[in-house]
Amino acid sequence: MDERLFFAATQRNKEPIAEVLSIFLPKEGNVLEIASGSGEHGIAFQEIFQNIIWQTSDIDPLCRKSISSWINQSGLRGKMPEPLEIDVQENPWPLTNEFCNTLRFIACINMIHISPISATRSLFANSGEILKKGSRLFLYGPFKREGSDTSISNKKFDQLLKAQNEHWGIRDLEEVTEIANENSFKTLEILEMPANNLSVIFQKAF
Ligand SMILES: C[S@@+](CC[C@H](N)C(=O)[O-])C[C@H]1O[C@@H](n2cnc3c(N)ncnc32)[C@H](O)[C@@H]1O
Repeated sequence: MDERLFFAATQRNKEPIAEVLSIFLPKEGNVLEIASGSGEHGIAFQEIFQNIIWQTSDIDPLCRKSISSWINQSGLRGKMPEPLEIDVQENPWPLTNEFCNTLRFIACINMIHISPISATRSLFANSGEILKKGSRLFLYGPFKREGSDTSISNKKFDQLLKAQNEHWGIRDLEEVTEIANENSFKTLEILEMPANNLSVIFQKAF
């Protein structure tokens, strides 16, 4: 059965994100993606970066079904593992020691504004526990800078998110950086991306 979901924004941003990943991803080992959604990013990145293993995950069973379906339809079964059921707010995440031993990179795209701030805190706390020094955590999405919206469209999006759920909303980069620092991550790079988004790469400092 074809249970693939199609997200228009994901199709639009996968290429610019892949360009950034090509600079910051490790040459090999496991990458863990938190909140993989439809799985379209995971499939695209697994096809491009063939020496790494892209491990997808999501809290939502419909998303996990979509990811499995994308893996099948793309002929990646056997290369790419099945999605994991991970709620970013769980502690610890259900990962084996064997997996964590070769885990070098965690990616989280367009999740932190569609979840409470506690999800961002858990993302950094859990990542800080499992990643070794020098490993990276990649965030992509819209951000505020020093409390201000960076565009009118982001301001409207923020209002829309808050109307849907009072605990959601575009995060302030400075607040996210503070949470990162509390969990021993330092900012490695901040890159402006299309449609007023940012790629933010953090590195585990110790
Ligand atoms: C806007 S979608 C982004 C999906 C994908 N990363 C992309 O960019 O296409 C947000 C995703 O966050 C996931 N999510 C929300 N809360 C979560 C949580 N507590 N743990 C894990 N995933 C969560 C949702 O299920 C959804 O797939």
